[in-house]
Amino acid sequence: MNEHGTEAPDGTSTEAVRLDQGHIEGTGGIPERFTNPGLPAHIHRSADVDEKAARKAEKQVATLFTLSIIGTLVFIVAYFAIDHRTQVFMPGIGLANLQNVVLGVSLAVSLFMIGAGAVHWAKTLMPDEEVVEERHTLRSQDEDRTAAVDTILGGGDQAQLGRRPLIKYTLGGALGLFAVPLVLQVAGGLGPLPGDALSTTFWRKGMKLMRDPEGTPIKATDVTIGSVFHVMPEGIDKSEHVLEEKGKAAVLLMRLDPDDIKVAKERDWGHDGIVAYSKICTHVGCPVGLYEQQTHHLLCPCHQSTFDVTQDCKVIFGPAGRPLPQLKITVDNEGYLVADSPFREAVGPSFWERGS
Ligand code: FES
Repeated sequence: MNEHGTEAPDGTSTEAVRLDQGHIEGTGGIPERFTNPGLPAHIHRSADVDEKAARKAEKQVATLFTLSIIGTLVFIVAYFAIDHRTQVFMPGIGLANLQNVVLGVSLAVSLFMIGAGAVHWAKTLMPDEEVVEERHTLRSQDEDRTAAVDTILGGGDQAQLGRRPLIKYTLGGALGLFAVPLVLQVAGGLGPLPGDALSTTFWRKGMKLMRDPEGTPIKATDVTIGSVFHVMPEGIDKSEHVLEEKGKAAVLLMRLDPDDIKVAKERDWGHDGIVAYSKICTHVGCPVGLYEQQTHHLLCPCHQSTFDVTQDCKVIFGPAGRPLPQLKITVDNEGYLVADSPFREAVGPSFWERGS
């Protein structure tokens, strides 16, 4: 056995052999105890020993909370002052709703600054000494429990709230105001109620059905059984509020074997088995995107509402409250598919104002 801390011929280190000996011979099967190395010496932060540094940290924390307050105030002003129809160009995204952008950014700033302030406060001013507690029976002694309660109650003192009124007041302001956006959203929502906005779409009688995004018209002969097209009305790109209009007018076009269609109205409103339905889910408005051509089911990926295309898009599963509205179509003289009328009912979600 090597006595000098080098590797033994069998590959076992000296230290390992010595421990093994202790295990077997020294203590009759009980391993020797290691000496408790204790905690490394505590290094005080500058704010612990220098009141000037502590005041500087206090101001930094207060600044972060103040930025949170400003973020919340911007949210409140934007909620009331910005027209929800105003659009803005965002690099990399394109046109976006200005109010949504400002509300999102200001709420993010408000939340982030509260978190950043709390973290900075904890790292610079709150006590950071490590405390070692010996293990004991699971139920603490009564005096320990009392001490724990005292410690919790004394947390305010430890956090120096009494000594640092600047933090106390700015934190109070940040947390107090932070509730306001939540109240606004609960009370008023994040925009006006839709009213009858979903009752009218861009579709008009005679408008060609255009492939989206190619923008090319579709002949009835292009639509084979089992195929599905994402469709927009002709001319929608020239409308004043393109995104909004596209959001309401999106349509799915499918061709079924006419014998598979079980509802006479659906057959009449289509053309030789070709049928068009709103793509906007009647639950809460997600785009219905998955068409299962074997079963003729349309599935909404958001909450799995499933619509049976052979039964006039009746809801056969999920939370949607009503079928997808059908767009009545026909063909023009050149064989192109065109709308035979606008939607006859509102597209999109059913909501309490309109019912289902
Ligand atoms: S939005 Fe389609 S199921 Fe909920």
